[in-house]
Amino acid sequence: MTTISEYRPGLEGVVAAETRMSRVNGQIGELIIGGYALEEIATKATAEEMAFLLWHDRLPNPAELAEFRQRLAEKRPLPPATLSLLESVAQEKVPVMDALRIGAGTLSLGLDEAEPQDLAEAIVARFPTIVAAYWRLLDGQQPIKPDLELGHAANYLYMLTGERPSAAQVRGLETYLNTVSDHGLNASTFTARVIVSTGSDMVSAITGAVGALKGPLHGGAPGPALDMVFEIGSADRAEPYLREKLESGERLMGFGHRVYKVRDPRAEVLGAAAERLFAADGDMALYELAKSVEETAVSLLAEYKPGRNLQTNVEFYTALLLHGLGLDTSLFSPTFAVGRVAGWLGHCFEQMENGRLIRPTSIYIGETDRTW
Ligand code: ACO
Repeated sequence: MTTISEYRPGLEGVVAAETRMSRVNGQIGELIIGGYALEEIATKATAEEMAFLLWHDRLPNPAELAEFRQRLAEKRPLPPATLSLLESVAQEKVPVMDALRIGAGTLSLGLDEAEPQDLAEAIVARFPTIVAAYWRLLDGQQPIKPDLELGHAANYLYMLTGERPSAAQVRGLETYLNTVSDHGLNASTFTARVIVSTGSDMVSAITGAVGALKGPLHGGAPGPALDMVFEIGSADRAEPYLREKLESGERLMGFGHRVYKVRDPRAEVLGAAAERLFAADGDMALYELAKSVEETAVSLLAEYKPGRNLQTNVEFYTALLLHGLGLDTSLFSPTFAVGRVAGWLGHCFEQMENGRLIRPTSIYIGETDRTW
């Protein structure tokens, strides 16, 4: 029988899968994705190269990349039923992340018999289309048809705004999408693996994963993190504002991590990308304010939660970078999903190939001697 000593609340430290996708070293703040250091791959690869790397454990050659890019581009348009469902949902003013979860569930339409590779390509290709189409519908505007000439990241920005983005904006978004493409056995990835481990399908897996990502303890933090910076407004207000939050027992969004006990390496990469973007064409004062909020938050967290090593996580600079790219706060978590979906699917492939039904045990703590 399972004993209480085996119980790991939150499965902390439990090894539940083998993966070639990414390695997270929380003690030294290192992240390797597909064999490459995050700092290198995030800023160099296109989003298409990253998806190919995650699914095939190697980068594509130029011909493979061109074909892969073409196949993804052709799969961008949504099934008519998905689009009309999003139109109805927009009437209800449902948040974008919920609309993505609802839309994601329809992606099996017309693809019941598709090969796993084809289905995965359709899912990755259509995630940005769902988000952009829904976001425009919510604003009373017509969705913009995907531009098949543009790459995955550029087309996402184009479908949101109707304008072709600059090279710097595309690089900024690709750096973001690559940075969040995979991250060990995080909650949403675990969700996806649990679902396919039962023999269920990849559309069910990514739909469940969107639901897991949505929570503020996972992918729901960047919107509130940016709101916090705006509410603080000036560097001198950071300390009293953050102290008040901590005194009242609130968590500071964008700080703390289950695995990282030092600064999240993704914060480094995204902070540098945000700085490049803001320095070239943006609100440098906002970037400076965010830096000083970060510094104050980290030192107050050390004061209020000594020994917990609460440092900046990926979400703080996600917020700044995506804001710099002109994205509305409501798009932050859905854009995280647009980046992470390639990783979820890579884990689905691994789980389907090698995995065993994921089925942990529980300890019964209820009564045993009741009579009817
Ligand atoms: N602000 C204030 N206190 C915090 C924070 C924070 N951001 N994070 C953790 N703590 C405190 C907890 O209250 C707890 O204090 P206690 O021991 O006095 O009760 C202690 O630090 C340890 O926290 P845990 O809950 O054990 O840490 P856990 O590993 O479960 O949580 C998590 C990690 C959920 C990310 C947490 O740090 C948090 O809530 N952060 C804020 C939300 C956030 O930024 N989410 C995005 C995470 S990154 C990602 O998923 C992509």
